[in-house]
Amino acid sequence: MKFFVDTADIKEIESLLDTGMVDGVTTNPSLIAQTGRDFIQTIKEITKIVTEGPVSAEVTALDFDNMKRQGEILAGIADNIAIKVPLTVDGLRACKYFADQGTMVNVTLCFSAAQALLAAKAGAAFISPFVGRLDDIGQDGLGLIEEICLIYAQYDFPTEVLVASVRSPLHITEAAKLGADVATLPPKVIRQLYNHPLTDKGLDAFMADWAKTGQSF
Ligand code: E4P
Repeated sequence: MKFFVDTADIKEIESLLDTGMVDGVTTNPSLIAQTGRDFIQTIKEITKIVTEGPVSAEVTALDFDNMKRQGEILAGIADNIAIKVPLTVDGLRACKYFADQGTMVNVTLCFSAAQALLAAKAGAAFISPFVGRLDDIGQDGLGLIEEICLIYAQYDFPTEVLVASVRSPLHITEAAKLGADVATLPPKVIRQLYNHPLTDKGLDAFMADWAKTGQSF
């Protein structure tokens, strides 16, 4: 399972890259707004430090012609840009247009299996189902991941299931059990994955016993 980091904060990305756990980055207009920085400049800086995995950058236009125009600007920034488009009629038209040219597209704001099926048919490299936002309204976010994984396997679609709107480590382990290809995690959740109280307790005991030996090396 690949891990992307869901942030536009350059410092967070830099510090998480050091862990060796980050396979890509996703951004969205809200995450860019939180930084208070220039959109294009921020994406350029991210692609300078994340050169291997995909960096998703989202169009802000709602109509096909302007999505195409913005997508071309974004795709011109670096080879590892995945153009992010919303799951709308125009968004999927733009998805097909860019996918036909060999450009990666991440279709975002997916909330149903039917939508995911359309995105795969439009040639999306990634489909982003938002599990947390479904859970927030009392629906089953992980149930949607299960449905999409099943449908994609049934038809051998190459579109990768990118679990988005992640709220906790449980979302990750459950999505991994379902075979999701990727999860995009807020920095806080990536850090939470490392933690277990018994790891801390065990380490404290090892350190205390080691100190008693008086040795060092
Ligand atoms: C994914 O690409 C989205 O940017 C993100 O996961 C949305 O998460 P949120 O529901 O926490 O805003």
